[in-house]
Amino acid sequence: MEETLKKIREEALSALDAQDCNVEEIRIKYLGKKGELTSVLRSMGQLSAEERPKMGQLANEVRATIEEKIASLAEKQKEKALFEALEKEKVDITVPGRKQKLGKLHPLTQVQREMEDIFIGMGFSIAEGPEVEYDYYNFQALNIPENHPARDTQDTFYITDNILLRSQTSPVQARVMEKQQPPIRIISPGRVYRSDEVDGSHSPLFHQLEGLVVDKGITMGNLCGMLETFAKTMFGENTRIRLRPHHFPFTEPSAEVDVSCFVCGGKGCRLCKGEGWIEILGAGMVHPNVLRNCGIDPDIYTGFAFGMGIERIVMCKYGIDDMRLLYENNVRFLEQF
Ligand code: PHE
Repeated sequence: MEETLKKIREEALSALDAQDCNVEEIRIKYLGKKGELTSVLRSMGQLSAEERPKMGQLANEVRATIEEKIASLAEKQKEKALFEALEKEKVDITVPGRKQKLGKLHPLTQVQREMEDIFIGMGFSIAEGPEVEYDYYNFQALNIPENHPARDTQDTFYITDNILLRSQTSPVQARVMEKQQPPIRIISPGRVYRSDEVDGSHSPLFHQLEGLVVDKGITMGNLCGMLETFAKTMFGENTRIRLRPHHFPFTEPSAEVDVSCFVCGGKGCRLCKGEGWIEILGAGMVHPNVLRNCGIDPDIYTGFAFGMGIERIVMCKYGIDDMRLLYENNVRFLEQF
């Protein structure tokens, strides 16, 4: 039996020495339940009481030696596999990276925020109102009763007889004045709607920015000064403004406001169509009827209001000649801003 045990040890160890041997197969062959060492141990019963412990000890030693060798070999093979895997997955860290494409804000949003910053710098705060609006706030409170001709130029989409998509940001004026006594100094940017056909300068959805100041002793002079500051900050230090008499039902007197062309400086060019001036907004002193409609006493308070299209400002600023470009989401166009 001693011979058999030693032979098993020798064979198992030399099998394990072979290159790329299958360790698990060898373990089963020698140490497994039906393995060679196990069957030797089974026949131990036939030995004499004297020999049994000796052989038992030898058998244990043989098992331990083989197990040890298997364990160290398994460890080595695992390391080797890991090394090979790492070798295979090696990345070349010297390859230049792929450039990440960063998104950016739409030019309309950029310009809207720029305008907001300018007015916030002058002490205005931002007020918001609903895009789905009552006829009352969009028209009646603003001194535009039913059948008033001004409704024609601001035809919009009706949801019911007295609920519509707002055609201007001016209803926010009325909503703010209703809730708050002067001093009031707000701007209100947002989407507005009109039932216009799409062309290079019209869209059924566009954006406006409204402004309203109401306090004791507010004059047209305040309006002019504020507009001039806005124009110079937005379009450059040399920009001048010009007011032309106009009519809005909710302001009196009313004016359309032009800025001197910031491309040609007023000489006349393609952008200003030879005029030297570019119209950018409507403005005026808040009509006493509007103040009264909103619970503000026109004998104590006066105010001015203005409203401008944000698309128009963007188009002027960047020399864009077709408004549709702002809505088409063509990345090659938008990337430029
Ligand atoms: N709401 C006017 C429009 O859309 C603009 C405006 C606002 C005019 C405030 C005067 C005062 O045409």
